[in-house]
Amino acid sequence: MHDHNHECSCKDHGQTNPLVPTMVKVQKIVDETSDVKTFYVVGENGIPFKVMPGQLAMVSHVAIGEGMFSVSWQDDDHLQFAIKRVGLLTDALHEIEVGQTLGVRGPYGNGFPVEECKGKDMLFIGGGIGLAPLRSFIKYCFKHREDYGKIQIIYGARSYDDLCFKRELFEEWPQVPNCEVYTTIDNAEDQWAGNVGFCPAYLEEINPSPQGRIAVTCGPPIMIKFVLQALEKMGYTDEQVITTLEMRMKCGIGKCGRCNIGSEYICLDGPVFNLAQLKKLPPEW
Ligand code: FES
Repeated sequence: MHDHNHECSCKDHGQTNPLVPTMVKVQKIVDETSDVKTFYVVGENGIPFKVMPGQLAMVSHVAIGEGMFSVSWQDDDHLQFAIKRVGLLTDALHEIEVGQTLGVRGPYGNGFPVEECKGKDMLFIGGGIGLAPLRSFIKYCFKHREDYGKIQIIYGARSYDDLCFKRELFEEWPQVPNCEVYTTIDNAEDQWAGNVGFCPAYLEEINPSPQGRIAVTCGPPIMIKFVLQALEKMGYTDEQVITTLEMRMKCGIGKCGRCNIGSEYICLDGPVFNLAQLKKLPPEW
């Protein structure tokens, strides 16, 4: 029998066993695009665990299984997950309705270096669903607005429909003091009056100076590749550029062996790295 009135470190105790999920209720679902939904979940006693920007959690569907997803924000009442429909598990998650139950456990990963970035200007460059993990850092900067300098967000997607978090992008974020939001889509559309073209090219056109600025990027690998090249050309040092290899996270605890690059495990040291750290890894990322 456990005495639950003291700090229990017993592995059988749900709160200290990292593999036991907490059951949470879906309280709200937002359709972001035709294949991305944001799920707002809450536990019986509120938020099941505290998450820092850039960390992930394992989300489980009772009938199908579980998968690792970045937490796109933790507000006072919910954990938020923006989930793109890409296969069996995410198809099943997209069928979930408000009031139904999911399991969550975590958090996993190191998260973004929110402390080290204090006092800096912040440049976020996101592509497609890659804005989901960046959003947690962006909203953290907004919440602690006086701790960060100018905030610039450059975000691209294939089409207008594929732009996530539209209300925030077009209505809320541009209202934040000293914040600029730039959006672009790959190909022209009748109703779209904004920029057309790929994110890296738009970044070079906007050309934010590297002076006192940290760049944080997440998106499809091909976009990240060209964004990194563009930032280098613009004079950013490897220490000023941060990305997340969160797509590699599977078990999150060094057990499954599916996140390794050479002998390094992304889940144990990352998934957030600056470019200087990444360049020390074998060139497989
Ligand atoms: S994610 Fe399983 S070992 Fe790293």
